[in-house]
Amino acid sequence: MTREPLGVLGAGWVGLVTAACFADLGYDVVVRDVLPERIEALQAGEVPIYEPGLADLIERSRDRLAFTLEPEEVFSRARIVFVCVGTPPMYSGDADLSAVWSVLDELPMRTDGVTLVMKSTVPVGTGEKVRTELAARGLSGVGYVSNPEFLAEGTAIRNFQQPDRVVIGSFAEEHGDAVAALYVHLNAPIVRTDVASAEMIKYASNAFLATKISFINEIANVCEETGADVSVVSEGMGLDPRIGPSFLRAGLGFGGSCFPKDIAALKQLAGNSGYHFQLLTAVIEVNELQKRRVVGKLVKHLGPLRGKTITLLGLAFKPHTSDMRQASSLVLASRLLSEGAHVRGWDPVAIEEARPLLKGVDLFDDMLEALEGADAAVIVTEWDEVRNFPFDEAGRVMKTAVLVDGRNVLDPDEARRAWYVYEAIGRPGVS
Ligand code: UDX
Repeated sequence: MTREPLGVLGAGWVGLVTAACFADLGYDVVVRDVLPERIEALQAGEVPIYEPGLADLIERSRDRLAFTLEPEEVFSRARIVFVCVGTPPMYSGDADLSAVWSVLDELPMRTDGVTLVMKSTVPVGTGEKVRTELAARGLSGVGYVSNPEFLAEGTAIRNFQQPDRVVIGSFAEEHGDAVAALYVHLNAPIVRTDVASAEMIKYASNAFLATKISFINEIANVCEETGADVSVVSEGMGLDPRIGPSFLRAGLGFGGSCFPKDIAALKQLAGNSGYHFQLLTAVIEVNELQKRRVVGKLVKHLGPLRGKTITLLGLAFKPHTSDMRQASSLVLASRLLSEGAHVRGWDPVAIEEARPLLKGVDLFDDMLEALEGADAAVIVTEWDEVRNFPFDEAGRVMKTAVLVDGRNVLDPDEARRAWYVYEAIGRPGVS
């Protein structure tokens, strides 16, 4: 059975992962982006973003992938077109939908039978607004389906190929059916619903995961005052299937391109409808405070930080990505600089992304060089190199062996045996 070609608008992270995974499933996919340099790179066989496994997948499916600047090439070949454009936050917290509206501006008049499938994260109610706008432009023959993505950076290919669920919200059943048919090979639960509920599932899911993290971070802070160990506490909690073990890792707070943006947009959305979302306000506040808590731990062991050298181990918002968006390292570095400390940063892949964002911070891609003469080190991102922390070598080059484990990845006993002053998050320290 020949498969209908698919269209993808937006060759960013979501668009390329979506296109590559559908091509891998045997679909011909036409990908369009507005950035000439991005399309040229893709046409030349380069993949302009860092995501494990993506470059191989694109290479493997190259004969089924086409990259273009021309929207016409998408709409002339594909009837199902995924919208994967950026919806970055505006200063108000609202999502910027200008790229979504540009898609409508570029819709050729002869697009009856085309279905737009929204994968970008858009506020609840956007689908309704798009439908109204399509009708106003005489394009009511164009279908609209909400199909949010739940891809995490670093595991996006797996998240697409083995989804926990596929969410499909549609106005017309047949449009939902057509999109659902694309996912049958993935053997995942398919949630069929209305467009607004599908849009809300995305926001509510991210907001709940962020709430879980802020909750366990607060528990960790109470553990520090009461002598309990949050790692054991979250393990004990997580065995209850009503709670579940995931997203209960205490640390220096959450970052990235999704959680901060989505919870701000959801809070704003609620506010726009006259509802004060108190819980999310607290989730955001706890998260911002959590990024700063390390400063107190350092002062406890080093005294005033003016003139002290502090090395941040890991800068990206999480491991397996070079993404610095809303990374905890950004806030922590500026806090330490404002305390008069000399700040150094090490990261295995994010140094170039970090350079323009971390002015005043000396950056290293060699961990031991970054630790040379340091008064203390702080684990900010739990890269594998950090999990296998070289206690002896590091101890030899650091000025004082003070280590703050901001991701609770090390074994306190090993730190003790190596004569480190060791502090973690919500765990009994070693001094
Ligand atoms: C997230 C969602 O996981 C994904 O489903 C959605 O589609 C996009 O947003 P991502 O932002 O890539 O994905 O990262 P994720 O792995 O979820 O981590 C987000 C942040 O939470 C990171 O800063 C991470 O360090 C932090 N985190 C995660 C914790 O602090 N504790 C945890 O237990 C889990």
